[in-house]
Amino acid sequence: MSPPIGPGTRLLVASHNAGKVREIADLLKPYRLEVVSAGELGLPEPEETGSTFKENALIKALACSRASCMLALADDSGLAVEALDGEPGIFSARWAGPEKDFYVAMKKVEQALGAQGATKPKDRRASFICALSLVWPDGHEETFEGKVSGTLIWPPRGSRGFGYDPMFQPDGYDVTFAEMDPAEKHNISHRADAFNKMLSLFKD
Ligand code: IMP
Repeated sequence: MSPPIGPGTRLLVASHNAGKVREIADLLKPYRLEVVSAGELGLPEPEETGSTFKENALIKALACSRASCMLALADDSGLAVEALDGEPGIFSARWAGPEKDFYVAMKKVEQALGAQGATKPKDRRASFICALSLVWPDGHEETFEGKVSGTLIWPPRGSRGFGYDPMFQPDGYDVTFAEMDPAEKHNISHRADAFNKMLSLFKD
């Protein structure tokens, strides 16, 4: 049995991505945990050698928990485009290149869709996927996966959020994630979906 998580629990968010850390801290706010990030503690980033979101989330959470002896939470996430057989998938961050320029990454997605003549919304289906792994200092681990589906638009719209948000329009909305109020994105995102599954481990 993993110890329950609740007010005052110290939790290390195993990420150096400021956008992700911000979203995870927002989602965790109601639970009054003591949240620190791997970036703040200067922990090294392990190589993501897994072949799935779940494997990579676990690699990151394990590395951070071992390095800090703390309860660690890692997120591995990305954009899976149906017409591209799930690409960029676990390589979503890498498609942005060393400059981490997500306009470049979105353009690559758009070019790959263009090469397939994918102009109709039904040919431009995609999902954001998020795996969340928790690892306790005693090595106990739990992983949860969440998803949100939508359509890719071009040109990108909006300046909020991060990564591929400006080209992703979730089902049931006529705005992109980057045009939404962050609170609204948090209600429906892949991260929120995985997070809601993880809440079974939290104290009331
Ligand atoms: P990771 O750090 O290897 O998990 O990289 C995940 C990448 O997927 C991020 O750098 C983003 O490009 C993309 N991504 C994940 N979640 C989101 C999101 O909520 N919005 C936009 N892009 C996302």
